[in-house]
Amino acid sequence: MDNRPIGIFDSGVGGLTVAKEIIKTLPNENIVYFGDTARVPYGAKSKDVVTKYSKQIVRFLLTKNVKAIIVACNTVSSNSLDALRRTFDIPFIGVVEPGVKSVLETTKNKRVGIIGTEATIRSGMYGRLIHDADSTIEVFSKPCPLFVPLAEEGWYDNDVARMTAELYLDELISCGIDTLLLGCTHYPLLKHCIGETIGEAVKIVDPAKNTADALRIILEKNNMLNDGSEKPTNIFYVSDITDKFEKICLKTLKKTYTPAKIDIEKY
Ligand code: DGL
Repeated sequence: MDNRPIGIFDSGVGGLTVAKEIIKTLPNENIVYFGDTARVPYGAKSKDVVTKYSKQIVRFLLTKNVKAIIVACNTVSSNSLDALRRTFDIPFIGVVEPGVKSVLETTKNKRVGIIGTEATIRSGMYGRLIHDADSTIEVFSKPCPLFVPLAEEGWYDNDVARMTAELYLDELISCGIDTLLLGCTHYPLLKHCIGETIGEAVKIVDPAKNTADALRIILEKNNMLNDGSEKPTNIFYVSDITDKFEKICLKTLKKTYTPAKIDIEKY
């Protein structure tokens, strides 16, 4: 048994969609969440910058005595996870491998759409891992960078969100996909709008549930589950205070949390 908290991080509010599944799957665990609200978006940045930012965040989370870290960001998981694993001696769970597992479990016609940030799509990581598992699957990828500011703004389902979704997704619809992977943790916030646009014949896959299961399996295997002797706490940190974080936290986790601001550049 190990009652230390789980660290979770993202460039902003997107990782809250993963935190929600972790709280549901592992209700006894304490959570320390960091959202890099001062430096979002990561998706338009280079691999080197994303790696530098994520190392700073890991150093910060280690000061909170975390026992494992969820990289609740596809951009970091696809660009910097290897570097994090080489640098720090702590279990990391990214979202890309769980996402690939969800795709393999879902597609029937083996035509799959992947949407994510520019950096995630540019990394080619999803396509590579899907092909390693099943070389007959055809992967159609499309960066959808504007979904991130829409999600951060709380514009989940208005005219701007719908028009943006149509412009991005039209070409995937014409590819005959039966599965669409939300390869950015911000995108589940726009799931309704994306679903209406892509149509009900296409199944939407969110890696969050499989990510939470991957964490559960690692904790069980290593006898690191929280023993549940105390009421769990969820603590939130950000690199810049915005009311948006609190609002989206409330909408996603159905509870008010007030984040504390830290100077991430110090780490
Ligand atoms: N939520 C993040 C992801 O899953 C990053 C979005 C961004 O900062 O561009 O990729």
